[in-house]
Amino acid sequence: MRFLARARALRRAAALAAALAVPLLAAPALSQQASYPSRPITLIVPFAKGGPTDVVARIVSAELAKLLGQPIIVDNVVGAGGTIGTLKAAQAPPDGYTLVLGHMGTHAAAVALYPKLGYRPDVDFAPVALVARMPILLLARREFPAADFAEFVLYVRSHQDTINLAHAGVGSVSHTACMLLNHLLEINPTGVPFNGTGPAMDALVAGQVDYMCDQLVNAVLPLRTEVIKAYVIAGTERDPAVPTIPTAAEEGLPKFQVEAWNALFAPKNTPPAVVATLNGAVVRALDQPEVREPMTGLGAIVPAPDQRTPDALAGRVRGEVQKWRMVLKRQMP
Ligand code: MLT
Repeated sequence: MRFLARARALRRAAALAAALAVPLLAAPALSQQASYPSRPITLIVPFAKGGPTDVVARIVSAELAKLLGQPIIVDNVVGAGGTIGTLKAAQAPPDGYTLVLGHMGTHAAAVALYPKLGYRPDVDFAPVALVARMPILLLARREFPAADFAEFVLYVRSHQDTINLAHAGVGSVSHTACMLLNHLLEINPTGVPFNGTGPAMDALVAGQVDYMCDQLVNAVLPLRTEVIKAYVIAGTERDPAVPTIPTAAEEGLPKFQVEAWNALFAPKNTPPAVVATLNGAVVRALDQPEVREPMTGLGAIVPAPDQRTPDALAGRVRGEVQKWRMVLKRQMP
């Protein structure tokens, strides 16, 4: 399919650009304040290439590499809803050279869904900065036989045995968001796990799976080219990137409210000066047009300055762990 080939080519180009993002403009204020960083930094992305976490990581890391004066190597360590890569980061030496781009799934919902999760999101990491906030959409393959949300509900309820739902593994954002949706609609379709919603989106575009709850960043291009369709945004506000998509509240399901987020974490015990250097770089990067424009163009929300501090991120993780523990307790399959 032509769209798929073009999307893959775009992703490859983005990956190549980021891989080559050597520091052209080392920022004096950051590079002079300490010897850190003096060598390349590895940024673990716990999901597959081409998905929302990977795309955000590549946009932001290209700018961070310039500001920090060192290359940033994006390492996709996938599996188990992002918990494998996240655990690897938690166990890395706390020296600022291994970081992870976590999210609402890896650093909150996973706690409720993995009784033996090998890390504690609120204890085993030094929070660095919130990087992006992301609306979530209910999406379906283009030929799915429902024209709007009301028809979707009727159709899914009467075809539960044959319908399937793509997600990025237990505890991922796509899994958690659709668990909430399914619980609210009292449906229980078959889940099809992928290593990220990059490959899951490819399957949705190809018509191999029926529906998915995904982050807008991953859906904007396929929606514009109409190779998939969206029924609602999981929240109460429409998004300017997709202004015609109604909210779940408008469609009579106000409790379908989920917002995903991405944030940078270092292992716990990372020296405060290193965390401060990284946080300063993220804060600056988020205000650069090279970051803001692609992020907002893809429908991500750049966090406000007061949301970018390590303390604000620590508070967010604590609050979200509690929230998802409560929400998911009621709806474990
Ligand atoms: C991804 O990058 O593939 C997603 O963030 C996965 C998810 O959590 O749904």
